[in-house]
Amino acid sequence: MTHTLLRGRLLTFLRAPQELGDTGSYLYESDGGLLIRDGLIVARGAYDKVSAKAPADVVAVDHRPHLIMPGFIDTHLHFPQMQVIASYAANLLEWLNTYTFPEECRFVESAHAARIATHFYDELVRHGTTTAVAYCSVHKTSADAFFAEALRRNMRMVGGKVMMDRNAPQGLLDTPQMGYDETRQIIAEWHGKGRCHVAITPRFAITSTPAQMEATQALAREFPDLHIQTHLSENHDEIKFTCELYPEAIDYTDIYARYGLLGDRTLFGHCIHLSDREADAMSETGSVAVHCPTSNLFLGSGLFPLKALARRDKSVRIGVATDIGGGSSYSMLRTMDEAYKIQQLLGERLNPLESYYHMTLGNAQSLSLADRIGTLDVGSDADIVVLNAAATPAMALKMEVVKTLPEELFLLQTMGDDRAIVETYVAGVAAKSTI
Ligand code: GUN
Ligand code: ZN
Repeated sequence: MTHTLLRGRLLTFLRAPQELGDTGSYLYESDGGLLIRDGLIVARGAYDKVSAKAPADVVAVDHRPHLIMPGFIDTHLHFPQMQVIASYAANLLEWLNTYTFPEECRFVESAHAARIATHFYDELVRHGTTTAVAYCSVHKTSADAFFAEALRRNMRMVGGKVMMDRNAPQGLLDTPQMGYDETRQIIAEWHGKGRCHVAITPRFAITSTPAQMEATQALAREFPDLHIQTHLSENHDEIKFTCELYPEAIDYTDIYARYGLLGDRTLFGHCIHLSDREADAMSETGSVAVHCPTSNLFLGSGLFPLKALARRDKSVRIGVATDIGGGSSYSMLRTMDEAYKIQQLLGERLNPLESYYHMTLGNAQSLSLADRIGTLDVGSDADIVVLNAAATPAMALKMEVVKTLPEELFLLQTMGDDRAIVETYVAGVAAKSTI
């Protein structure tokens, strides 16, 4: 049995921070130890105490003075869009039709899907992300490649083959029956294998006929424990077109509600322009609104009212995500930097404790997976990131005047990227240094 002992400054959240001075929302250990056995955290605390529990043959890694945190979680991104990033488009629908749909057609080829899967996981690990929730393409081959590589790397990953049967090129369409059958096959072949989770994935209402939405509903009923992911209320033209396609619905959210797709396992990407009624429906069903700041800015989709949604009487659960390739960075640090700026433009404050809570425990809670990931708690998966706030000369210079933990976190978020990720551990195994 291999034991690994990590030493460094430990930071893990207990709950959502209420304000910058909310020291009760996290645990910080200035000289901490984490003991890992068989991919799980088995002891955490002051280094002296934890190291006393380690066997003589323990593999010890001293990460001082760096910060050791739970690995980052990305709750919405697109595996087949690695080569769509940085595509010059006026808005969401133009971007989808001009670049994204043609690119996704290539994933019918399993060799292409396998090649991109290797790069996909390399980039996640390079950026300190240990769990991600991904859309594959419509092709089963893409989901097979996605999960085969997750299994090979022993990563906890959520993903699904998108179901889409209209308003896209022929090479990107399934049918209600095909989408249903292939999703069932993917569940049978991959769900629960290693740390793989399959998500039911209707792309969005524009690309699914009512018949396909019914097939999605059937899957959701048959597999109530599975995550569901789709897009909602991202762009004004998208909203208008969607509501024209489903005239019987009172609004965009109501379309998904009519097919039984709201619920505490459902992740709705974007949710920028929700009405009060829609936010109430999200809240009442425990549905999650996933904020994708770099994407929202890049595509000009709008400013997500994160703070306003969180402080409503009927608060909405919130996740944060990169939305590669509408998003422009794989880094959750870059993502939260842009999230901060969006709240600034809305006259709101997003403090650094909240940002790191969202990247870790908050996203784990939004996936109902906080018993496995998102903390450094004993019994959790040993998915861990090690952060260096002095990773570049400019960051090191600023670090000379940083005095508090929140200041250090804010510097990391404002100036950091993959260079600030010293190491990423996947189930206790160093994964970044071995890419
Ligand atoms: N809505 C439907 N599909 C997509 C997608 O691939 N990216 C984004 N940002 N929005 C979408
Ligand atoms: Zn998306």
